[in-house]
Amino acid sequence: MQEVLPEGAVIRKLWVGEAAIYREHVLRLDAQSRHNRFGGGVSDAYIETYLNFSLADDAIVHGCFIDGALRGAAELRPLGSDRPNEAEAALSVEKPWQSHGVGSALLARTLLAARNRGIRRLHMACLADNERMQQLARKFDAELSVEFGSVIGEVAPSRPTPLSLMRELLTEGHGLATAMLDLQSRMLRG
Ligand SMILES: CC(C)(COP(=O)(O)OP(=O)(O)OC[C@H]1O[C@@H](n2cnc3c(N)ncnc32)[C@H](O)[C@@H]1OP(=O)(O)O)[C@@H](O)C(=O)NCCC(=O)NCCS
Repeated sequence: MQEVLPEGAVIRKLWVGEAAIYREHVLRLDAQSRHNRFGGGVSDAYIETYLNFSLADDAIVHGCFIDGALRGAAELRPLGSDRPNEAEAALSVEKPWQSHGVGSALLARTLLAARNRGIRRLHMACLADNERMQQLARKFDAELSVEFGSVIGEVAPSRPTPLSLMRELLTEGHGLATAMLDLQSRMLRG
């Protein structure tokens, strides 16, 4: 699927040391988006506690940076040894940047990462009235089978191939180069 992103947008994986910017992004979500992201109303304190673990364990978080600021994120969290080959995914895009292709691009990267790690089943908790997320998942119905009956959507990424592994390496190579340039320019400004 072709990525169409807002100007100045870059997608790359977040590093463990970037927990604070991830937290700030999630705390900036408007009330409705926060409700949809967590499947209900949650406090700032809950978000702080939850996100402390996000980058520390084996979760993979892709971020969408627009003009250097994190405006969207997609979390891929393996369910652990009890349920090998299964993971859950969750997306968040700040309101002013919604409906500009950010969610689609983040989901595409998450699916590629899931596929390359042998994830066979990906759970996405999605409220029944979250049309935007359901519409987004349907865009990937060529590679996903999605059931959004009430709350849980399940997707089954395809098996990894040398090409899918190469695609992830190439997109990360680009993300890393951009991140280094961004860091360099921030150091020069500071
Ligand atoms: C759900 C969410 C991740 C989608 O991200 P996004 O950046 O807005 O998504 P995109 O711009 O890629 O749009 C994806 C599709 O959604 C649909 N869509 C976009 N805006 C819409 C709207 N206002 N109403 C209904 N559907 C809409 C379109 O079909 C679009 O596909 P298109 O490219 O063919 O137009 C984002 O809205 C969000 O963070 N919401 C709050 C948190 C949340 O709901 N998370 C999901 C649960 S984990």
